[in-house]
Amino acid sequence: MTEPLSIADMRLLVTGGAGFIGANFCHYWKQRYPQSTLVVLDALTYAGNRASLKSLEGQEGFLFVAGDINDYALVERLLAEHRLNTIVHFAAESHVDRSIHDPDAFLRTNILGTHTLLQAARKQWLDGPEGRIPHRFHHISTDEVYGTLRPQDPAFREDTPYAPNSPYAASKAASDHLVRAYQHTYGLATTTSNCSNNYGPYHFPEKLIPLVILNILHGRPLPIYGDGQQIRDWLFVEDHCQGIARILEKGREGESYNIGGHNEWANLDIVRLICRLLDQAFAEDAELRQRYPQMPACHGQAAESLISYVKDRPGHDRRYAIDAHKISAELGYQPQHRFEEGIRKTIDWYLQRSDWWQPLLGEQYAAWLEKQYVG
Ligand code: NAD
Ligand code: DAU
Repeated sequence: MTEPLSIADMRLLVTGGAGFIGANFCHYWKQRYPQSTLVVLDALTYAGNRASLKSLEGQEGFLFVAGDINDYALVERLLAEHRLNTIVHFAAESHVDRSIHDPDAFLRTNILGTHTLLQAARKQWLDGPEGRIPHRFHHISTDEVYGTLRPQDPAFREDTPYAPNSPYAASKAASDHLVRAYQHTYGLATTTSNCSNNYGPYHFPEKLIPLVILNILHGRPLPIYGDGQQIRDWLFVEDHCQGIARILEKGREGESYNIGGHNEWANLDIVRLICRLLDQAFAEDAELRQRYPQMPACHGQAAESLISYVKDRPGHDRRYAIDAHKISAELGYQPQHRFEEGIRKTIDWYLQRSDWWQPLLGEQYAAWLEKQYVG
């Protein structure tokens, strides 16, 4: 075991920092610790977006590097050159549906990429010229590694056996095991967090919540997989960031922590809620009606009229729920946002930030949507 690093001494490599949660984490961290050093390494895949980091670029202590976590020489050079002693590892292929169509990239990034980072960290922090130096490798994982729950099952705990059901979940489970092995075998100071579904700003519109918001604004169908009764446990992204910060600060080496919001919703209910909130917003605001003329409210219709049942996701997990007792009891973690507040903030953000999402809705995106929802 190494002496834990204090927050003030942490110099961060954030992988996947141009993605949804990674970008939110960078904003969260630099707002609280403006003096800190934070280097983002991101390959800018379809899901990475430098615009999500715009207000941080140019700030002291912030650097963006476009590159792949599979590039060992690059990772090693960044760790050495910037004397980075903490990795917060978000980079991943993250979308379950894509992993069903084309799993290769998931294995490459989520498994091999994580292994490349572990190897570079081991070399720099355990076997470098100064021998072992204080460090931390924090791995961001998911509740999907635990598989699926029946309605009466208790929520996932850290000791729930792994039972991943999609190629995405299997690749994340493999990466969790590698992180565990590097701690057990080499003594790398690792921690892992397994979080439930996040929502909030900068969320790529292939995922349920942003997809539904943007489809309503454009009068497009709202695709509900199967019967829409699958349950997810939704957490506002800033609350996930808070949980990660607490683990970095006080989490015990070698431990895993579940992070969740005690907030289970059936998909259909979430979609209906978003429809209702947008109908209300449009009823109260003439400017919105002008800006988004395809929204059903502009034609006297309810947004719910767009709901459209489509073929179910193969192997679709029925229910996820997180027992976050460990992180609450040990690290004092409590989500700060009630769902009602978080979802309103999120909808407002999408209504205000068409400059962020408009460039994403090109031909490639339209073709992808088309391919997804035939059926
Ligand atoms: P995302 O898809 O929005 O972002 C992933 C980022 O990783 C992108 O910026 C992408 O460019 C980058 N990336 C992909 N491959 C890379 C590579 N080979 N090298 C460098 N960068 C690469 O994902 P997200 O939703 O922000 O998820 C972040 C992490 O959190 C993932 O590890 C995911 O498994 C986990 N997680 C996500 C959720 C959720 O609800 N979104 C919940 C729990 C856990
Ligand atoms: O649980 C954590 C996981 O949450 C993360 O590990 C993943 O990276 C993240 O993508 C998310 O996975 P899900 O598959 O739960 O998220 P998604 O937004 O794709 O889907 C949420 C639910 O909504 C799921 O039951 C599938 C359903 N769905 C999704 C889409 C995109 C629909 O019914 N229609 C849709 O169009």
